[in-house]
Amino acid sequence: METSLLSIDQLADAAAIIAAGGIVAFPTETVYGLGADATNASAISKIFLAKGRPSDNPLIVHVADLAGVARVAKEITPIAKTLMDAFWPGPLTIVMPRGDSVADELCAGLPTVAIRMPKHLVALELIRRSGVPLVAPSANRSGRPSGTTWEAVHEDLSGLVDAIVCGEPTELGLESTVIDITQSPPCVLRHGAISLKSIQAFVSDVVSVDELDSSDQVRKRKSPGTRHRHYQPKAQVLIANSPSFGTDTFEDGSISDGTSKSVVEEPVGIPASRAWIGLSSPSRREDWRIIRVCESPEDYARVLFSYFREIDRLGIDFIVCQVVPDAGIGRALMDRIRRASADE
Ligand code: TXA
Ligand code: MG
Repeated sequence: METSLLSIDQLADAAAIIAAGGIVAFPTETVYGLGADATNASAISKIFLAKGRPSDNPLIVHVADLAGVARVAKEITPIAKTLMDAFWPGPLTIVMPRGDSVADELCAGLPTVAIRMPKHLVALELIRRSGVPLVAPSANRSGRPSGTTWEAVHEDLSGLVDAIVCGEPTELGLESTVIDITQSPPCVLRHGAISLKSIQAFVSDVVSVDELDSSDQVRKRKSPGTRHRHYQPKAQVLIANSPSFGTDTFEDGSISDGTSKSVVEEPVGIPASRAWIGLSSPSRREDWRIIRVCESPEDYARVLFSYFREIDRLGIDFIVCQVVPDAGIGRALMDRIRRASADE
């Protein structure tokens, strides 16, 4: 398949491809999405194929208005209404009871459907022109860092999708916050730019899935995406608790953040290369092949995934990510970094 590169002025062409059952990547404020007609089961199956996505991981439906929600949700509950009023359009995905006409493949057989109204004008215009809600998972091969630039999308999906709408790099850089309101209390399944605290201002009893008792298997199973490998570059990701990361232990060819779990043995005789990303510079700058010092946690979140990809292109072996406080966007950022560093 040849992948057309479209400009943001060519949304009529993009919508025509979607109407014909094709798949088109487009920018949103979080990450690029890979869009298809949410009412077309064969278009939905193309998405799973192009991404190499496990069929048990459901998709998010993107809408441009409340009529779009009514097409896929069984009902709009008072909590849904409150959250939509407070945070839409924006980076909040709401898991609601699923409408009868929604394809099983879209929801991986679950009785619920995840819905989001993006804020990005290109995304909204594409949904409107398509005349249907759009399923749109992040536009990357499954398990890879989400695409935050059209070039990253091209790198992963060229030849596998019909078209890419080439917009700007995405504003937020991390995927939306996902909240499930079909359970009581409502539960944040994935952290994003909309923080738990800001949701609590509207829905006071909301909890985070990672604060639930781990023996609560039923809830865990309701967070399907978290079972799969995620956000992983080819380089090994390590977490640094301080800017002096590694300085004590470089001589013996291993690096450590001070906890025995993350000590890494490097291949003997091959000097491994290392990249750093964080809010401050590491000590001994000469030990790092590249260093990225971010202005703020927001800036760190915006560039993380594209930095991962840059490191892979450079063939660097290790990426060391400096920890940030678990508050606000920091929580979503640390969640992505921890998953990227997990070795399962
Ligand atoms: O910011 C975003 O959300 C981006 C942009 C393109 O909108 N999309 C995105 O989609 O990140 P994806 O497919 O990469 O992640 C969707 C997440 C997965 O963790 C999935 O398991 C979860 O949402 N999800 C989807 N439907 C669900 C449902 N019915 N119940 C629980 N979780 C669901
Ligand atoms: Mg994804």
